[in-house]
Amino acid sequence: MLNKKKTLLPLPEPALKTYKGWNIPVCEPTQWGNEKKYVKKCMDSNWISSKGDYISRFESQFAKKVGAKFGVGVLNGTVALHLALEALGIGPGDEVISPAFTMIATPNSIRYTGAKPVLVDSELKTWNMDTSKIEAKITKRTKAIMPVHTYGHPCDMDKIMKIARKHKLFVVEDAAEAHGAVYKGRKIGSFGDAACFSFYANKIITTGEGGMVTTNNKALAEKMQLIKNHAFSHERHFWHKILGFNYRMTNIQAAIGLAQTENFEKLANKRITNAMLYNSLLRDIDEIILPPSTKGIKNVYWMYGILLQDWSRVTRDTIRYELARKGIETRTFFIPIHKQPIYKGWFKGKYPNSEYLCTNGLYLPSSTSLTEKQIRYVASAVKEIFAARR
Ligand SMILES: Cc1ncc(COP(=O)(O)O)c(C=O)c1O
Repeated sequence: MLNKKKTLLPLPEPALKTYKGWNIPVCEPTQWGNEKKYVKKCMDSNWISSKGDYISRFESQFAKKVGAKFGVGVLNGTVALHLALEALGIGPGDEVISPAFTMIATPNSIRYTGAKPVLVDSELKTWNMDTSKIEAKITKRTKAIMPVHTYGHPCDMDKIMKIARKHKLFVVEDAAEAHGAVYKGRKIGSFGDAACFSFYANKIITTGEGGMVTTNNKALAEKMQLIKNHAFSHERHFWHKILGFNYRMTNIQAAIGLAQTENFEKLANKRITNAMLYNSLLRDIDEIILPPSTKGIKNVYWMYGILLQDWSRVTRDTIRYELARKGIETRTFFIPIHKQPIYKGWFKGKYPNSEYLCTNGLYLPSSTSLTEKQIRYVASAVKEIFAARR
């Protein structure tokens, strides 16, 4: 049963069937280097907890790759965001500006501090927070802006940094999806007071579960190292002068991360090569808007997202169900934050572009390791859906 209407809430996930031998997950990790070797070293040496030298090696190597001086490795991208906000002193009574169109971890991390997320609608051109709408949302309580580089396309950081300087706000980049992305020659991860990455299994650099905050601020990095480790005071163990958390990354996670970081450019660039092939194969379908591409900006296409024109005769859910029958897994775009049950009644404004993105967007298989044959198979399956309705 396929729905004919465009709904904000998607139909239940379509069951993925293996079809003529094809079964392509929407995303899976790629291990091209020393992952196994380094994990084995952890096991052989018995350094499997959050002590062990892979952690500091991964922190410094990864930070370098994203143009930052310091890295603080943590358990996942969500706690990276929370840790950065906590270390910057954000708490009850404060407000933090973030996009309405994002994954739930962005506003939740703000909420964990006791502060309130304040939403800004996204723009249809880049799928990122509309920077022209930020200033209208700034109040006396605003302490920070948390831009999200959606699906690997950098936000307009010149504008965001200008607004932040003018209003004396912190900037915490949610770079969970943007490993290797570049904005006007400068790497994503080096702009704000802090940037937060996720290393979940579907990310361009993965540690299975994992995350990191990068920063150029030494004092902030030291504070985050302290807070992520229960805030054990330096003069006396089991003595705590500030509230800490256990957000420590394990040596095993870091071992995988270091191996991935050794292939940083290769992993990020393959995502781009895959996207270019999809673009060339899908370009002729008028109903489809291809992922954003902006001059002077390196989009790393964490996920290869496509957006349907509002006049498209085929809905997002129809595409998803038909592709699933051919062994191709997809995902809908995010459901905007103001529509989430846990945020019911929190936000007054209107966020039409975020709703449009949600209703009309989906992403196709996006693993780094996709082969040309797989991409061609997916693209021709998409083309068939549209051709059948002409
Ligand atoms: C924009 C964004 N922020 C934060 C996160 C949270 O990262 P994690 O799943 O590692 O906690 C994600 C995860 O996909 C994300 O997409």
